[in-house]
Amino acid sequence: AVDVRGLNQEQGVFTYDPGFTATCSCDSDITFIDGENGRLMYRGYSVEDLADKSSYLEVCYLLLNGELPNKQQMDAFRDSITHHTMLNESLVKFYDGFHYDAHPMAILTGITGSLSAFYHDTTDITDPEHREVFAHRMIAKMPTIAAAAYKHSIGQPKIGPKNHLDYTSNLLRMMFAVPAEEYEVDPVAAKALDILFILHADHEQNASTSTVRMAGSTGANPYAAISTGIAALWGPAHGGANEAVLNMLAEIGDASQVSKYIDKAKDKDDPFKLMGFGHRVYKNFDPRAKVIRSYCHEVLEHYNMQNNKLFELALELERVALEDDYFVERKLYPNVDFYSGIIYQALGIPINMFTPMFAIARTVGWAAHWSEMMADPKRRIARPRQVYTGYDLRDYVDIDKR
Ligand code: ACO
Repeated sequence: AVDVRGLNQEQGVFTYDPGFTATCSCDSDITFIDGENGRLMYRGYSVEDLADKSSYLEVCYLLLNGELPNKQQMDAFRDSITHHTMLNESLVKFYDGFHYDAHPMAILTGITGSLSAFYHDTTDITDPEHREVFAHRMIAKMPTIAAAAYKHSIGQPKIGPKNHLDYTSNLLRMMFAVPAEEYEVDPVAAKALDILFILHADHEQNASTSTVRMAGSTGANPYAAISTGIAALWGPAHGGANEAVLNMLAEIGDASQVSKYIDKAKDKDDPFKLMGFGHRVYKNFDPRAKVIRSYCHEVLEHYNMQNNKLFELALELERVALEDDYFVERKLYPNVDFYSGIIYQALGIPINMFTPMFAIARTVGWAAHWSEMMADPKRRIARPRQVYTGYDLRDYVDIDKR
């Protein structure tokens, strides 16, 4: 029953599915995407409702535990998160090993992976308490890790967490405060980040989450597994698109150039793609993009930036693309990354920190999926097969005869 490609048909039917467009790798209770109708739910709650009424930390609790917390549960969860925000002093020294112009995502990958060297005492994957400590630790430390990466890149001393602040205020302070100077967190900026984080918190089996699951399926240290997710997120086809969108808008420059770039995106001989457009699952508007686009108006108005050129350009690009047959036929709509950078920029967050912002927000999704997989008795090592297209058996030829 073994065919020419070495696939044993007695093991079941093999599907050939590059890019896993039609492969379900697991079952999951966490997040539901209805791509045809542009709907997204975490544990049954619509993401629009959560963005409007909830907070990022509450959403973290929901994703990890399956239910919204009551007040006591929320207080205990917040306490646990604030308990874990510090970085070990030895870990802080690791930053000095990175060149000053290293991309913060490179630093994040390295620092997060090295957490595995510090926390091997609580990584019994069969113990629910260990899994919980891991998730809380990761959620708590990511803002500290990312803010320190930013401080390293601009040559400023790192600022430690202040645990009386809420999650995103703490992050903003660690990024923008300077020692011996007063720093007042802007509540509008903290709220805007909180909403963006809710919208980025999970998205079922996307490339980075699948990577975390795959690494985790071997029984690998979970902190190391998270580091693989950060690496996968960095690519411009995934979380790196938020940075790529801003660079693209800057390159387009103004509305008169829009049709030229739309033509470039349609040209199959040109590698250029409209960044922040298209999605593997959404064949309709990405609901997150809708929330962010409307929130853009609010944030820009607050900062007196109503005439923000990049936002106007993004709106124009969307308008032209959505009237173009190429984009209509392929159901290519703006995704979560198309407008998020406009808000990040209005908050003064530098472009190379956009993807780290996504990584902070998505950490809970990675941790929730890792934990769900570990608790699943059906878990097996993730090990896809291939269709071998290489040589058949050949004779070895000595080097002097080649
Ligand atoms: N610009 C121009 N054409 C596009 C774009 C785009 N942004 N996206 C897809 N297409 C075209 C493809 O060329 C293809 O055309 P064809 O049928 O003539 O060959 C068709 O639309 C289908 O696209 P695929 O590449 O097959 O779709 P896939 O599901 O593999 O890729 C992806 C999805 C990676 C998101 C893609 O749309 C893309 O590269 N977008 C730009 C990058 C981006 O915004 N990424 C962020 C995604 S959201 C996130 O991860 C947070």
